[in-house]
Amino acid sequence: MTYHLATFGCQMNLSDSERMVAILTKMNLKPAAPAQADILIFNLCSVRQAAVDRVWGNFKGRMAKGKRQNKKPLIILTGCILPADKKKLAPKVDLILDIKDLNSWSGIIIKTLKHKNTKTQKQYNNETMKQCGNGTKIAHRADYFAVPPQYSSHFSAFVPIMTGCNNFCAYCAVPYTRGREYSRPAEEITTEVGNLIQNGYKEIILLGQNVNSYQSKIFNPAAAGQISNSKFQISKNTSVNFPTLLKLINKIPGNYWLSFITSHPKDMSDELMKCLTECQHLIPYVHLPLQSGSDKILKAMNRKYTAKDYTKLVRKIRMIFALNSHHYSHVTPRLAISTDIIVGFPGETKKDFLATADLMKKIKFDMAYLAEYSPRPGTAAARLKDKISHKEKTRRRQILNEILKTTALENNQKLVGKTTETLVESTKDGLAFGQTKMMKNVKIKLESKKQNLIGKFVDVKIIKAGPWGLEGKLT
Ligand code: SAH
Ligand code: SF4
Ligand code: F3S
Repeated sequence: MTYHLATFGCQMNLSDSERMVAILTKMNLKPAAPAQADILIFNLCSVRQAAVDRVWGNFKGRMAKGKRQNKKPLIILTGCILPADKKKLAPKVDLILDIKDLNSWSGIIIKTLKHKNTKTQKQYNNETMKQCGNGTKIAHRADYFAVPPQYSSHFSAFVPIMTGCNNFCAYCAVPYTRGREYSRPAEEITTEVGNLIQNGYKEIILLGQNVNSYQSKIFNPAAAGQISNSKFQISKNTSVNFPTLLKLINKIPGNYWLSFITSHPKDMSDELMKCLTECQHLIPYVHLPLQSGSDKILKAMNRKYTAKDYTKLVRKIRMIFALNSHHYSHVTPRLAISTDIIVGFPGETKKDFLATADLMKKIKFDMAYLAEYSPRPGTAAARLKDKISHKEKTRRRQILNEILKTTALENNQKLVGKTTETLVESTKDGLAFGQTKMMKNVKIKLESKKQNLIGKFVDVKIIKAGPWGLEGKLT
């Protein structure tokens, strides 16, 4: 039998899909094109309505194609689905499965397949509804993290360290789709990372919706003994916070980069900032979502910081970094900072928007993911009137994009003439494409087409800079 898995959304969903593939492979299922698959799995994202609509369009297209070919695949939905959407979608699909139940997926899928052609559609639907509870239940455990994933790359790996969110930003679906925060046991994480490094992985990206609020309560005393050394002691039964986890991982010997996404400004502690300069494997890059530069909007968003707090924080990180980052031997020590911003949150006046634009000019981000506000059913902001027109939201986003273009270009131009370590991701027609240590795209001219550089670190001299990437040559 065959399956097709379509993944939407962020790195967390991509990472979850790698664990799903492992389970499906263990069930002896083979991957196939959507039209040929016996089982279609959609790993959904609910962060914006556009994301939901896109998936829905895609889904209908695939169904129609299957129908034309007289194929009736088993349809499974998983990932981030809002309770209201779950209720709406349940009657249209065979199963809605929670990633947190991954360990029971194979049993459920086999049982459903067995009964699929013997039961009426109505019975299916009742079963599906039972399967996903009343649409509001969210599991609290996350033992699925222990499932060894089938990584999609042989040199770069996502390693989830926590899931869920306790912050309830007024606009955000995540607390309703992924439930409360759950941190993975530290020793499970260090074991996974250790194995990856031993297998030659060059890039480890730690994942969490709120990665820096990681706090593992479960800690096995035997493992504590194993991973502590004279320089860094861990006492038995200690709970491990994010900076401690970084230090533990950083001790694993090897030639690799370590990074983490996504940090909340409220959890960016001094201890964590110090890690950025003390852990030699951490790359000089931080993603720190700002969302808005207006205090009124930040408050309405429930972000728990002001524009001034954010500015001070960035100044502090940059200063600590500039003073202490001696181990970055190649480029001038500078930290790349990227962010997320939402335009058109309910009540965002032109003045509020200009405060965001001004702050962006002041901070000079290296990258920003700019989103137009989209009301998510069930969130606090969904009750507010979404009065700003689509056209105005787009206009605001475009203005911010122009600011970003200017600051990113300015930052990138400072790298011209410098040599930077780069991880090569792909090659084509005598060119290599990769990411520099500051997470900037770089295109490298190769002298010989034969060079096999994919998944390797190379030193690149930057010769040209644009707002969205760099060009360079091997040194
Ligand atoms: N945990 C991360 C973000 C997760 S969602 C954090 O705390 O920042 C990723 C991004 O999507 C958010 O940073 C936000 O900019 C955007 N986003 C979330 N909900 C949105 C909504 N309802 N409308 C528009 N953008 C949204
Ligand atoms: Fe959503 Fe806020 Fe949690 Fe990020 S911190 S996942 S934006 S609720
Ligand atoms: Fe989307 Fe879920 Fe990620 S809502 S952005 S896939 S955490």
